[in-house]
Amino acid sequence: MKVLTVANRKGGAGKSTCAAHLAIEAVTGGLKTILIDMDPQKTLETWWDKREEENPYLIDTNANDLTKAIETLRDKSFDLCIIDTPGDASQNAISGIKVADLVLIPSKPTAPDLSAIGRTISMVEESNKAFAFVITQGINRAKAALQAASVLSQFGAVAPSIISNRTAYANAMGMGSSACLLDKQSEEEIQQVWSFVKAKLFEERKSTKQKLIA
Ligand SMILES: Nc1ncnc2c1ncn2[C@@H]1O[C@H](COP(=O)(O)OP(=O)(O)OP(=O)(O)O)[C@@H](O)[C@H]1O
Ligand SMILES: [Mg+2]
Repeated sequence: MKVLTVANRKGGAGKSTCAAHLAIEAVTGGLKTILIDMDPQKTLETWWDKREEENPYLIDTNANDLTKAIETLRDKSFDLCIIDTPGDASQNAISGIKVADLVLIPSKPTAPDLSAIGRTISMVEESNKAFAFVITQGINRAKAALQAASVLSQFGAVAPSIISNRTAYANAMGMGSSACLLDKQSEEEIQQVWSFVKAKLFEERKSTKQKLIA
């Protein structure tokens, strides 16, 4: 089981929206997926409550019990665990980062969000975790999105597609659904973001191992 944690100390960056949409993509791709919502606001859990399908599954836990909960899940044939974290540097956020195989950092392509990104990167680096970025709530190929990608790429890999600002995402969150079912363009960009994340989670270490054997 791989653990993907979505984190950004800045509120409203698009963490919960990102976590929900990537979970649906993972499930669509056949992965048995479980969600953990470490944010007391419970945006992800509220979205999940509106769903009828059991996959993605969800468990409740807390910062003290998270490591043990992850160990238990490893014995239960889950392929992927996605953890949503609060937009702060609380124990809930840090505990979610500590158990991650990869931390995905969504960021809006705006000056205030980009200038605050260093504090999130420091928090992730303190736990010595791999991380990558995805730009959210921007306009595809607009100057701001391109500049944001250029800034973020100095620190780490950036997803090849942004998650655009579309009402389909907000609507989907309110319905326990995915924007991919409502809108073709959302589907295309979420598929690209998921392929990027999936490769980082499941394939990169494998390819290193193959090179060593060869
Ligand atoms: N791609 C998008 N297009 C349009 N609206 C979006 C998009 N992503 C997020 N939003 C909206 O922006 C707001 C914040 O999004 P979200 O809850 O995902 O952010 P967050 O980082 O989880 O916030 P918090 O730090 O409060 O947990 C919500 O109202 C959500 O519906
Ligand atoms: Mg949230």
